[in-house]
Amino acid sequence: MLTLTFHGHACFTLEADGRRLIIDPFLTGNPATDIPLARLPKVEAVLLSHGHGDHLGDAIPIAQRDGATIIATAELARFCGEGGATVHPMHIGGARQFPFGRVKLVPAFHGGAVEGDPTGQFTTNPCGVVVTMGGHTVYHCGDTGLTMEMQLLAGRVDAMLVPIGDNYTMGIEDAVRAVEFVQPRTVIPMHYNTWEVIKADPEQFKRQVGARARVVVLAPGAAHTLS
Ligand code: NI
Ligand code: MN
Repeated sequence: MLTLTFHGHACFTLEADGRRLIIDPFLTGNPATDIPLARLPKVEAVLLSHGHGDHLGDAIPIAQRDGATIIATAELARFCGEGGATVHPMHIGGARQFPFGRVKLVPAFHGGAVEGDPTGQFTTNPCGVVVTMGGHTVYHCGDTGLTMEMQLLAGRVDAMLVPIGDNYTMGIEDAVRAVEFVQPRTVIPMHYNTWEVIKADPEQFKRQVGARARVVVLAPGAAHTLS
């Protein structure tokens, strides 16, 4: 059993077997989140897709508060480490078994600058994050355009967290094609309606996905359990 809780934009917590992690913890300054940082339950790991402010978010304060490990691409992990967090650097294509489950980083096509790094020395490749825990595999696409690389995950993903907001990432049309590529059972749209520039209708996405997968639209604060 694996429970996904949406905290607005691209932020999710994953819980299984009494363990909890967070992906892209953008709470402070997130107009779409349901909770302030102070009310986030304790996590043991913080997974990052990339270093843009709406994904890096509160990663370092959470890691320091909870004694959590930040797991990210090596350059972004080094940035967080210099910021005082415990980190575990990885990179695209690599996987590792952690106490809570397995993490694999996969390609994403997007910008790699790191918020708070004026020198540019920590700029890195953005990534998607594939997490296996509680007997289920979740693919958080991160911020990305539609890529052929997604086809490499075909049939290997139970739940796909896919951006639909357009402008900075895939919009609805390409997100539907991404679902075709990956063939997950469950799809949860993200990265939309946080700001006007990424306004999108998740019900339209759901209609267009049709019978390809079960689309679960989560309001911020809502959860979905894979059983
Ligand atoms: Ni981004
Ligand atoms: Mn973003």
